[in-house]
Amino acid sequence: MPSKRGRIIINLPKAAEAVIQTYDSVSGYYKTADGEADFGHTEAPVLTLWYSLVRSVRPRMIVETGVYQGLSTCFLAAGLRDNGEGEVHGIDPLETPHLWEGSELEKYITWHAETSQDALPAIQDIAPIDMLLIDSEHTYAQSSWELAEYEPLVAEGGYILLHDCLWHDGVGRTVQHLLDSDRFEVVIFETPRAYEHDHMKGGRVSMGLAVARKIQSGSPLERDPAWIDVPERAPQGPEPLLRRHAYDRSVLRAQLTNEVRELRAQLETLQRFADERAYMVQSMESSASWRISKPVRFLGDLGRRMRLIRK
Ligand SMILES: C[S@@+](CC[C@H](N)C(=O)[O-])C[C@H]1O[C@@H](n2cnc3c(N)ncnc32)[C@H](O)[C@@H]1O
Repeated sequence: MPSKRGRIIINLPKAAEAVIQTYDSVSGYYKTADGEADFGHTEAPVLTLWYSLVRSVRPRMIVETGVYQGLSTCFLAAGLRDNGEGEVHGIDPLETPHLWEGSELEKYITWHAETSQDALPAIQDIAPIDMLLIDSEHTYAQSSWELAEYEPLVAEGGYILLHDCLWHDGVGRTVQHLLDSDRFEVVIFETPRAYEHDHMKGGRVSMGLAVARKIQSGSPLERDPAWIDVPERAPQGPEPLLRRHAYDRSVLRAQLTNEVRELRAQLETLQRFADERAYMVQSMESSASWRISKPVRFLGDLGRRMRLIRK
């Protein structure tokens, strides 16, 4: 990886470089050859982040669902090339020319020209996966299926990335499964492409990216039947689902922390009260035993004296 004046330069195939040149950092869109906006590819800064992640955590096996023309696949493969090892398996039934074709990146990439449902047996054969990138259809049905079925194939310490989790509530609901499980640590980023949102007070909603690290294996994630038929859609509330849940969780956490503090204070008062009562009971018992033992001792003495008189 050449570096010039502190700038990271990622060597990409010519075709991929040409697409990157059309990226507009204000809108977060690319442009097609006839000047139309193209939002099929992930935003360029996010792709650089994925490249850097590959360089940092050095995965040997990457699986990507949703390849489109393969711009993201090129960045992942460039990371593997610069690491000196690894393979990326891209899954997408879309028959289209890929940006890596004819380049040196080809040898790092295997394209599965089928849906992620059909590709599952092939991916089971190449597991464990060190990095899983979920970026196919942005419904809950599809993203949660991919998470539930592919997650068990991810190695402990491996990474799961989900793009578009803030804009598409279905993907957000899928990410919620990772947040609700204690088997993952998760962080959610804003990403450059953002849309106006009717419900937001003058705000825009970013596409968003979730990065999860799998801490340990365990029982598979269970899907939520209530969301299966929900179509791909923008956030339904005043904020993306994940942001609302994060807010609700932090409010609930603050409430629970307060309750615990109050209960602990009450417990301390009760403990002091119980100690005082126990002390009172103890002193009453000792004075009672003095009163009982004194007459008993007196009667004992009396008996002994009477026996002496009789003798
Ligand atoms: C957002 S694009 C992927 C973009 C790509 N990751 C990138 O950043 O350049 C989504 C792709 O998912 C594919 N797709 C849709 N349903 C799929 C499925 N069931 N399995 C795999 N891919 C699917 C579509 O054909 C489309 O090309």
